[in-house]
Amino acid sequence: RPVLVLNGPNLGRLGRRQPEIYGTTTHAELVALCEQWGAERGLAVEVRQTNHEGVLVDWLNVAADERTPVVLNAAALTHYSYAVHDACAQLEAPLVEVHLSDPEARPEEWRHHSVVRPHAVEVVKGHGVDGYRLALGVLADVLTGTDR
Ligand code: DQA
Repeated sequence: RPVLVLNGPNLGRLGRRQPEIYGTTTHAELVALCEQWGAERGLAVEVRQTNHEGVLVDWLNVAADERTPVVLNAAALTHYSYAVHDACAQLEAPLVEVHLSDPEARPEEWRHHSVVRPHAVEVVKGHGVDGYRLALGVLADVLTGTDR
């Protein structure tokens, strides 16, 4: 079944962006890994990345219409975008929130709040790129329990 992995601002530079925090795996490599991890769990994963809040909201709106399960790393938008909050609130299929780092363990106070969390069945954070594997596993388990 189709599943979306949506990545927000600055994640397109994964591997080059602050590798001491986010690791050295590139976004292209992450895409391939997510497709593989999804396939292992019977999920047809499509990975997308955007730097634009409105584009992310558009994708979430279509996911709501089509009842598509979502793994979401909204990146910095996680912490302040009420548009992303409201878009996530409309989703009927399960949503898993993922972060490479653990935002709550980081010094910036503004990273400690998430607008996505109230709508997520689970939050996976601090596991780097492997967190996406864990998040897809959570999604597969939830879908097995509810939808198949
Ligand atoms: C992030 C954490 C956010 O605080 C940050 O703004 C990001 C990436 C993560 O995956 O660790 O861009 O979502």
